[in-house]
Amino acid sequence: MDRLPHHHVASGSYFVGGRQRLVLEAYLGTCVGVALYDRQANVGGLCHLLLPEPIGPAPRAESQKYASTAMPQFLRAMRDAGADDATLSAHIAGGALVGPLDDRDLALDIGGRTSEIVQTRLTDAGIAVAQIETGGFFTCRISLDLQTGECLIQPAGENRLERDARIEVPSPADVDAVIAKLQPIPQVALKIMRLIETEDFDIARLSDEIRKDQVISARTLSLCNSVMFGGRRKIDSLDHALVYLGINSFVKFIVVSCLNQFFDQSEHGYSLCKGGLYHHAVGCAIIAEKLARETDLVKPGLAYTAGLLHDIGKVVLDQYVSRSYPLFYRQLNDRREAFIDAERSILSTDHTEAGATLADLWELPDSLIMAIRHHHHPENAGASRDLTHVVYLADLLMSRFHSGLELERLSTSNLAARLQCLGLQMSDLPRIVDMIPIEVFAQAPELVLAAG
Ligand SMILES: [Fe+2]
Ligand SMILES: [Fe+2]
Repeated sequence: MDRLPHHHVASGSYFVGGRQRLVLEAYLGTCVGVALYDRQANVGGLCHLLLPEPIGPAPRAESQKYASTAMPQFLRAMRDAGADDATLSAHIAGGALVGPLDDRDLALDIGGRTSEIVQTRLTDAGIAVAQIETGGFFTCRISLDLQTGECLIQPAGENRLERDARIEVPSPADVDAVIAKLQPIPQVALKIMRLIETEDFDIARLSDEIRKDQVISARTLSLCNSVMFGGRRKIDSLDHALVYLGINSFVKFIVVSCLNQFFDQSEHGYSLCKGGLYHHAVGCAIIAEKLARETDLVKPGLAYTAGLLHDIGKVVLDQYVSRSYPLFYRQLNDRREAFIDAERSILSTDHTEAGATLADLWELPDSLIMAIRHHHHPENAGASRDLTHVVYLADLLMSRFHSGLELERLSTSNLAARLQCLGLQMSDLPRIVDMIPIEVFAQAPELVLAAG
């Protein structure tokens, strides 16, 4: 089945098709996935839902992310493709809890309510439900083979378990050696990140430095053109880009274009798909920036950069996680460990330590080093508590609502207290999730940048 072409159905979208050599798949954390197949008409579809219903009036363009508005559209698309409600069969998966069981309140069980609405819509249409696997704590993968109608619901990452584990525990010297071998991110991006806290950019000098580096100049311009103009070359110089984007977006583009290559050095340890770590980083950056504006506790540019950098340590430890993958998988799924605890018990170190070492070497400001070091336990971040809480929440939202980018299981103990630190309550969560631009969940990270 895995050798067939795959189509990833992103959160807030659906896909309908006839019999063909194609497997539809979605990774589900708190999101709910509904697979429908009509074995007589040979028509199938997969719908990936984010929330039960809109908080206020939903913008038309985003109606596919709510169960209440997307289900009627999805069912209509199935019927238009030739499916008949009477011969359709449904599989429902996902809907994991956002927080721990004790913080759970029925009214806040986002996944549970999404799944309820899905079931009601299916019952109303008289569609038989063959399998429901919702609730629980883990990210799962739902797949539908459009050739055979076979639907599988399995824990995320299970399809990679065939590999043998070769545990290799890195010593501090090994970690240093990996860091020394990594292609570093360019000096100009580091310079920007050092200044991001004060926003004290000498833009003329910065432009001069970028111009000296032809690779970065070209990459920044191409990113800018692809995000803003769908790849048409409308912006042809750095000066033009600066005027067009404004200083804040301009520096973001430079940093993002430099980090893309850095994340590309990781192979397949933490990441569940190609480019997963980078996409997760850009998504966290966008959400962290939004949270910074919402809470007014941190500078948005600083929150963006911290979101982008929080998992850089994963690039360092990637090869070790990759070799011990089955062990990680078992500890996460069988023992229900948080990822960082599994890293410590298997590797004797973790990606927050490795990331902080790297950030220290890059001479990044203390606030960024603290956010990288403590993003899994933000209460330990001392003077950078606010920034680190923002990054923690952005990370949690990405891992629960855009699962499948990386192997990660975050601890949600103290979630209510951590939200409170940002002046938020559990009941604010659906509104915060709704605030995330839909592009964050799309396939191409470049679309995410446009959303920011
Ligand atoms: Fe992390
Ligand atoms: Fe993360």
